[in-house]
Amino acid sequence: MSLRERFPIFQKKTYINSCSQGALSFDVQQAYTQYLCDWQEEGSPWERWVALLEANRHAFAGLVNAEPDEIAVTASVSAGVSALASALNFRGERNKVVVSDFEFPTIGQIWHAQTARGAQVVQVPAAGNTIPLEWFADAIDERTRLVSISHVCYRNGSRLDVPAIVELAHRKGALVLLDGYQTIGTMPLDVKQLQVDFLVGGTLKYLLASAGLAYLYVRKELLPQLQPTSSGWFAQANIFAMDHRTHTPAPNARRFEAGTPAVPALYAALAGIKLVQSIGVERIQAEVRELTGAIKAGAMRRGFNLVTPVDPNQHGALITLRSHKVDLLVKWLAEDGIIVSSRDGNLRISPHFYNNLADVDRLLDCLTKHKALLV
Ligand SMILES: Cc1ncc(COP(=O)(O)O)c(C=O)c1O
Repeated sequence: MSLRERFPIFQKKTYINSCSQGALSFDVQQAYTQYLCDWQEEGSPWERWVALLEANRHAFAGLVNAEPDEIAVTASVSAGVSALASALNFRGERNKVVVSDFEFPTIGQIWHAQTARGAQVVQVPAAGNTIPLEWFADAIDERTRLVSISHVCYRNGSRLDVPAIVELAHRKGALVLLDGYQTIGTMPLDVKQLQVDFLVGGTLKYLLASAGLAYLYVRKELLPQLQPTSSGWFAQANIFAMDHRTHTPAPNARRFEAGTPAVPALYAALAGIKLVQSIGVERIQAEVRELTGAIKAGAMRRGFNLVTPVDPNQHGALITLRSHKVDLLVKWLAEDGIIVSSRDGNLRISPHFYNNLADVDRLLDCLTKHKALLV
């Protein structure tokens, strides 16, 4: 069976919407069946389920070059970032959180929620489809506790210059949180090389699984000084100590976890990550680059308004086009069997390794048919 054949949706649809949800593979479907079998046959195999939690921790660590002890497995990116926020002190001089204009709403909302705990949120504005580095430099100072940035913006596909921003932040003694949800699984991402202090990402997009699971990386040197007040029994040094009179957080990043994990999602996530790793992120990056290159070239040739920067080093797997009636365009494309999505008046096209140039041609032909909504 070819790789593409492992994703049955392509028998009926041209699916190019991985920025929203990765396509379902037989592998992930089989993982869900396995969950039901285990539950049916063994009743309550908690040891296996806790082992699967650990397997997820190891798998994600491997994907981003972290140590398993630096990974918390959380229910969502929001849960991980909220637990992290609860461990940061905003009462002193260093109370600023610098947030980019490219953040997914949940990130901005969580930092704004911390104003009740003394945080001051500073927004770095965008200049069209980019955020000039100088604007980060202007915003980051000795009072900055954290710089919170998205690797690739979910609205327009722009990729930020992470090493340059990390350099600016560290020079002023600020920490950096990277939201890699729109990149993890599409390109190599190495936390040690990027030198970020925290990283979040989840399973349901380019990691090919389903909702209910995300990961938080915390650089190990920071762990002893970070004591989350958002906690639970899965965050304890000994999960099964079952002692409600004490709170003894795990020495590693598990201290950012909370309660019972989403067990079905643990099966699915592992299958998704294994599939991504069996192909290899370098190869995926090359294939995605070819596909996004063809989308950009075809769109520009037809006079469509490309929102994403043209330079492949300045975007991720997501390419966006301006449309003045984007909801209608998404609907008409869906009627022709082409699944894409929209945000903010932008048509979002997000290929993964399972797409091919025939998908891109089909999409471009269909967009040409509906050109009136694009120019
Ligand atoms: C960049 C980015 N961050 C975060 C999220 C969602 O996070 P959560 O797992 O909290 O729903 C998304 C989902 O679309 C996203 O694109």
